[in-house]
Amino acid sequence: MKEKVYILDTTLRDGEQSPGASMNTAEKVRLATQLEKLGVDAIEAGFPAASEGDFEAVAEVARKVSNSEIVALARASVHDIDRAWKAVGHAAKPRIHTFLATSDIHMQYKLNMSRDEVLKSAVDAVKYACSFTDNVEFSAEDGSRSDPDFLCQVFEAVINAGAKVINLPDTVGYAVPHEFGELVAYVRKNTPGIDKVILSVHCHNDLGLAVANTLAAIENGARQAEVTINGIGERAGNTSLEELVMTLNTRPTYLPVTTAIETTRIYRISRLVSMITGMPVQPNKAIVGANAFAHEAGIHQHGVLANPMTYEIMKPETIGLTTSKLVMGKHSGKHALHKHLKTIGYDLSEEELKLVFKKFKELADKKKVVLDEDLEALVNEGVLRT
Ligand code: KIV
Ligand code: ZN
Repeated sequence: MKEKVYILDTTLRDGEQSPGASMNTAEKVRLATQLEKLGVDAIEAGFPAASEGDFEAVAEVARKVSNSEIVALARASVHDIDRAWKAVGHAAKPRIHTFLATSDIHMQYKLNMSRDEVLKSAVDAVKYACSFTDNVEFSAEDGSRSDPDFLCQVFEAVINAGAKVINLPDTVGYAVPHEFGELVAYVRKNTPGIDKVILSVHCHNDLGLAVANTLAAIENGARQAEVTINGIGERAGNTSLEELVMTLNTRPTYLPVTTAIETTRIYRISRLVSMITGMPVQPNKAIVGANAFAHEAGIHQHGVLANPMTYEIMKPETIGLTTSKLVMGKHSGKHALHKHLKTIGYDLSEEELKLVFKKFKELADKKKVVLDEDLEALVNEGVLRT
């Protein structure tokens, strides 16, 4: 029996921290409703102390969603925790997520606090949050660059104070997979009480390793992954939900875990996030990019037409797409052109196809992609007029 990895989606909070990606209340509610249908266990809806608008958005999401937990972020302060609870307290399943940095560099230059002061503030914050709900998450910001023993000391103390989810963030995306996996294993081994709570990770993508680091953490016992749709988020973004989930699903024997994500909803929610935030998805983005299931090379097109699994490790239907796309360009072969022409209404004889294929290759040498309109023109010139 596979263990479950809980998915906390933070598109509405860390994703919104992508430059220019801010969302209003109606947009957050629309997305939250779709995230709930997607099957995420928890939706981090925002940071209520950050602004009046974010407070209202979190409060509205908390009213509208009932299956997923609704999480409100708060710094380790009474003011932030009060705002978080006010915004999220009426949710069917509310959670307060409080955080404090534990790395020397953050404690010295940002917080101006000693280790003892950070330890005390973290415990006070968790105890205060627990006076509202028993569903409290604590994050050690910049955890991956913290002294591992101090990290374990803080985690032990906040578990004793009542935290139910302990989150280890790679806040600046500095970790590499084997090292991050080892840190997760170290924390599990050296934090008394860790087995009573859920160990979570939250990775950033500054070196393009967020998904790999999250997988390494899961391999070493993390059981909540914090992710965003399309991997959007602060700077280079966060762990992408679709890449993480599809890796676990496509390679089912790699890790003995499963998620509750309804993958056939992935493509449409990716489009919705892109539309709402105004952030286009790069064409070669894994899973949801426009080219992720597109084939141009003739040999590939031939293979995919014979059996899609020759060049596709996932079925497009599993993420909610109907078919793979054959892109007509200079690498396409006669077989693929024939098939594509049929789908746009031209069933050519062998002789006609030969003619059109020759003209198609000439055109494809000049144009990156041959559009359906171009093909129609070629058929009209090459076949119908001969
Ligand atoms: O990256 C980070 O450390 C965060 C925390 C607030 C979890 O976003
Ligand atoms: Zn973050």
